[in-house]
Amino acid sequence: MNHILSGSQFADKNLLDKIFAKAAELEKADKNHQVPKLLAGKIIATLFYEPSTRTRLSFESAAIKLGAGVISVENAKASTSDVKGESLEDTIKMVNCYADAVVLRHPEAGTAERAAKVSSTPVINGGDGGNEHPTQALYDLYTIKQLLDRLDNLKVIFGFDPKHSRTIRSLAKLLAIFPGNQFIFISPKSLRPSADLIKEIESLGAKVDYGENLDAVKVADVIYLNRLQQERFEDIGEFEKNRKLFILKPEHLKNSKAVVLDPLPRIDEIDVAVDALPNAKYFQQAKNGLYVRMALLLYALSKLD
Ligand code: CP
Repeated sequence: MNHILSGSQFADKNLLDKIFAKAAELEKADKNHQVPKLLAGKIIATLFYEPSTRTRLSFESAAIKLGAGVISVENAKASTSDVKGESLEDTIKMVNCYADAVVLRHPEAGTAERAAKVSSTPVINGGDGGNEHPTQALYDLYTIKQLLDRLDNLKVIFGFDPKHSRTIRSLAKLLAIFPGNQFIFISPKSLRPSADLIKEIESLGAKVDYGENLDAVKVADVIYLNRLQQERFEDIGEFEKNRKLFILKPEHLKNSKAVVLDPLPRIDEIDVAVDALPNAKYFQQAKNGLYVRMALLLYALSKLD
């Protein structure tokens, strides 16, 4: 069964190439209104215990475009029998009765793994706490390849909350498998990435630096920013103290050809004035999510051919 749980499971570059080729093919087909109904007769469940705009809606759109039906639970903590005390494991076994795959988002790290252990259908991790968001990382990677035509020898800035950002965590793991990549984590010291992530990406050969200002923007190929993750702070005072510490503004991007990405939602990390610059690629990135997730649904359901 093709569960999608972590960015690391896509270290096989042939598999990545296959997924990206299928995403590009589906984008073209979609523009011609000719998407093949490869998932006709299938049902995809989206089970979300945390809020989402992009992940839930793009997976649902992806499923529908491919001919599948969708059953969906938003705010699952309050609207499923979780309220009555049903375990995640039992909930997943129930969803198995009604759907051919489940996209799961949950505030606790490790939940997708737990679900996969009991699930008789593929589990797709739509974000598990501060741990991983692999489908986001895959379309981030796809977007970088589309824009820069390479995934190696890149200087990548990650900001501004690498401690809590699951998207930074998943993307750094994936980019680290390509040679010559250098990561510069920009954040206050208290929000630097966890030691386990640094150990893993350095062991793959990535070079790691840290910064506490935006000077490195001048040398970056990719500037990957993510909001401070308010919901993961133990001390809300620390979030408020740091949330506006770093804001990317047009003046930082003078003479820069770097592409600016953000998994969104944006709060303070990118001034809206940046949207008008050619560097700003975050809305294109979000659109790519639809096509990469179409390809990933095919992968999960063993229809990637
Ligand atoms: N990037 C992302 O996961 O967005 P949502 O939280 O809106 O799904």
